[in-house]
Amino acid sequence: MGSLLDSVWREVEAAPSLAAALTACVQGLRRELAHFNWVGAYMVAGGDLVLGPWTGPAATELVRIPVGTGVCGAAAASGRTEVVDDVNADPRYLACFLNTRAELVVPIARGRRVYGEIDVDSDRVAAFSAADAAAVEGLCVVLAARAEAEGHDFHLTPQSHGGNPCDPLTRQSHGGNPCDPLTPQSHGGNPCDSLNRQSHGGNPCDS
Ligand code: SME
Repeated sequence: MGSLLDSVWREVEAAPSLAAALTACVQGLRRELAHFNWVGAYMVAGGDLVLGPWTGPAATELVRIPVGTGVCGAAAASGRTEVVDDVNADPRYLACFLNTRAELVVPIARGRRVYGEIDVDSDRVAAFSAADAAAVEGLCVVLAARAEAEGHDFHLTPQSHGGNPCDPLTRQSHGGNPCDPLTPQSHGGNPCDSLNRQSHGGNPCDS
């Protein structure tokens, strides 16, 4: 698997901008992996996921998806990879293409910040292995570092008091602990003082 995607890694790392890296990622994945039938990047903008570079047999009408809606929105809200073996059995699924049977969505995330995600559709039921998910997750680490370096808009992912990812629907972690409310942070990652709207390090607060 590693060697198959070496060229994609090289292209993503060599890309001169986040936009070019996203394009290299979606095109490279579809070129190298035959069961990746449609691959697109959705990026966070103003609380929504907005479609960026994509490659596949057809365009999707879902060019803007609210965080929390659909499989894509669930992955952005939780910051966790979603692997759906049978999209017809998942009530969250937003249909894009008649042929799609399985979906893989990997957040482009760093710490609690979700910058976007890579969304993959396959025409085969249960098409995506753990190795597929791990490979895309590795590329998303590189993309997240690039997004952070370029100061891309992001969505803060809620977490439970136990530090486990938070289920946005039940507001509980999978361990049953209540979720933290979203905590504003400064661009330096320091906690934000809500009164003077600056972090203790003096950096301006987010949102
Ligand atoms: N199926 C996704 C929507 C995006 S399309 O697959 C391109 C979802 O359920 O969120």
